Amino acid sequence: MPLASPTLPPQMSINPNGKQPRIDGPVKVTGSAMYASDHNLPGMLYAVPVCATIANGKITALDLTSAKAMPGVKAIYHHGNIGSLFRSGPPQGFSGVIDEKRPPFEDEVVRYYGQYVAAVVALTYEQAIAAANAVKVTYSSSAPDVSTYLTSTEAPKVDSHRGDPDAAFASAPVKVDQTYVTPTETHNPIELHASVADWDGQAFTLYETSQAVVNHQNVMAQMLGVPQENVRVISRFLGSGFGGKLWPWPHALIAASASRDLKRPVKLVVTRDMMFQNVGHRPQTQQRVRLAATPQGKLLAVMHDSLNHTSILDDYSEGCSEATAYSYSVPNLRATSALARRHVGTPTSMRGPGAVPGLFALESAVDELAVALKMDPIALRLLNEPEKDEGLNMPFSSRHFIECLKTGADKFGWANRTPGVGSMKKDGLTLGWGVAGCSWIAERMGASASFELRNDGTARIATATQDIGTGTYTVLANIVRENTGIPHDRTEVVLGDTNLPAGAISGGSWATASCIPAVVDAIQKAQQTLFGIATAEPNASFPGKKAADLAFTDGKVHLKDQPAASGIPFGDILTKANIRAAAGDGKSEGTFGDPKRKFSTHSFGAQFAEVTWQPEIARLRVSRVVTVIDAGHILNPKPARNQIEGAVVMGIGMALFEETNYDPRFGAPINNNLADYIMATNADVPSIDVTFLDYPDLVLNSLGARGVGEIGLAGIAAAITSAVYHATGVRVRELPVRIEDLL
Ligand code: MOS
Repeated sequence: MPLASPTLPPQMSINPNGKQPRIDGPVKVTGSAMYASDHNLPGMLYAVPVCATIANGKITALDLTSAKAMPGVKAIYHHGNIGSLFRSGPPQGFSGVIDEKRPPFEDEVVRYYGQYVAAVVALTYEQAIAAANAVKVTYSSSAPDVSTYLTSTEAPKVDSHRGDPDAAFASAPVKVDQTYVTPTETHNPIELHASVADWDGQAFTLYETSQAVVNHQNVMAQMLGVPQENVRVISRFLGSGFGGKLWPWPHALIAASASRDLKRPVKLVVTRDMMFQNVGHRPQTQQRVRLAATPQGKLLAVMHDSLNHTSILDDYSEGCSEATAYSYSVPNLRATSALARRHVGTPTSMRGPGAVPGLFALESAVDELAVALKMDPIALRLLNEPEKDEGLNMPFSSRHFIECLKTGADKFGWANRTPGVGSMKKDGLTLGWGVAGCSWIAERMGASASFELRNDGTARIATATQDIGTGTYTVLANIVRENTGIPHDRTEVVLGDTNLPAGAISGGSWATASCIPAVVDAIQKAQQTLFGIATAEPNASFPGKKAADLAFTDGKVHLKDQPAASGIPFGDILTKANIRAAAGDGKSEGTFGDPKRKFSTHSFGAQFAEVTWQPEIARLRVSRVVTVIDAGHILNPKPARNQIEGAVVMGIGMALFEETNYDPRFGAPINNNLADYIMATNADVPSIDVTFLDYPDLVLNSLGARGVGEIGLAGIAAAITSAVYHATGVRVRELPVRIEDLL
């Protein structure tokens, strides 16, 4: 059986009302939060890239004559004059990671439409755009391959294997064998990618929009060929990222190189159309799933063979079978993955990489198996609940998938479902009800943090992680409050700057889980520093006592054997000693890839969707979503709920709208703007009921928190397409669902 979850010590179970607003809210809504491209420095120049208009070939000539003569132009960079840019070496953990490995302008070869082939730097943005348009590029080109039927010439990689799935499948009485396709999807954070680079003759200051400032610093230092301490990366606020801002992209190097060469600050803003070609995307996936079961529904075999497209020059594996090996109990299983090369920009992580397209395929197949078995899809899942992670052969740290399904079924009213296609009606509409499971990795990475208790009664917590819009500022203040009793309005949180102690990436949904142990360690060390100050003559607040006699409760220091109310506020102790701050440096190790791990750590959930279908006018709507999430202890329910709701909205987009289309003749992404790349809007979004089970996972950290950034997107598309099947009888296996599929 899954391990029973331990319970939190009572003093940590604060935050009962869940109404804590974001501490960064006021600076955001008043417009004083500085995003990367808001930085305007004295003497700043503007860089505008020139993008290739072919997807496969070579530059044969670059005519800069008229561009150079245009007003305000300071320089035009290209392969011939960009100077030294290096490739970064193999990554070490989460340091040195970059998906598009070739530095800009490294050669004259073009491998995707829109690849930067030159960049103009001018006094104004308008002058730079005009001159970039005047650069004449001649190419020799061949037909690009952007075809959407994927085949691979490379041997597939076996991601997980147990038993004899081929034999078990061949002899099984009930089978599903289907192929599921998810399209290329493009990250569309509202804040565009942007870099403002400032070279002072020795060191760079880079204002970036980055989900990982420390990695960005490391990669930029390597590629620019300067020591790491000569690069400072600042990213205080982000208008989201969805994974597209995890790792650096070529524009950041163009801005930095130009600043170094021209000895002036340079701003480069990636435009919305470039966002579709130069800064990654979720690759197209094509996944064959084979399931076999007994007539009673016991799984006998699972095979999940996935392909995803990657670019010509880089290997990006989506990892679609991430969740396959541990989702269900099955004796025979094989999951493989392979790449298909296309003339597209290099793909990258997009919210829930791997698990999101992977669970669309797996959970759709489970629903198809339930139909084949004439079995309720929840009952089928309950029957195949594993007692441990059968892929890793380890216990789960905390898995409550069954409770997610049952709680969701109650909230949704699943007991009223009639299984027949089109059998449910309401107000003249046909209803479809679908369900899917979801899961996501729960890890933490090594982090460090510094904490100060200050003489004015305030606290300061600093770490080089980022708040990408998810609420990290607030959650760090929560960690401080839960461990010291110091309220939000007396806590300063400082993030997004490589001058701070190295912190976690804002990715993998593990920023919070990673910060907790480092912050708690820093707090405890600062308290020890304070106890030393409180007992040190001549200005001791506790003369004649030892540090070991003292305790810290609700912002006060008191004798361990005395009540907390008798204590002295920490600010008074510092003031008496004439010391500005008692500091502590905290550090923690990561769990990711830890060979000594004893538990499989994941979050789980159940997604329920209702669609309404009006065949007379071919109108399909998602009318209701219920989601139940088991993501450990929820530190702050309000932003956590925001995360799940936002992910569900994205899931509706994934199911019904999102798809990047490439022109087969030129390899250009053609719906490269917010009008033609269709996303879910408010009008597409029904009421979303989010429930957190809130079982702390103390294997991961002392507050039992996992993460909520990505799991809410997993499973939604399968729940919706299963609901569409229930309403219409049409099983859509290639996203997004199109109305013409249903006619
Ligand atoms: Mo997430 S795709 O790890 O930003």
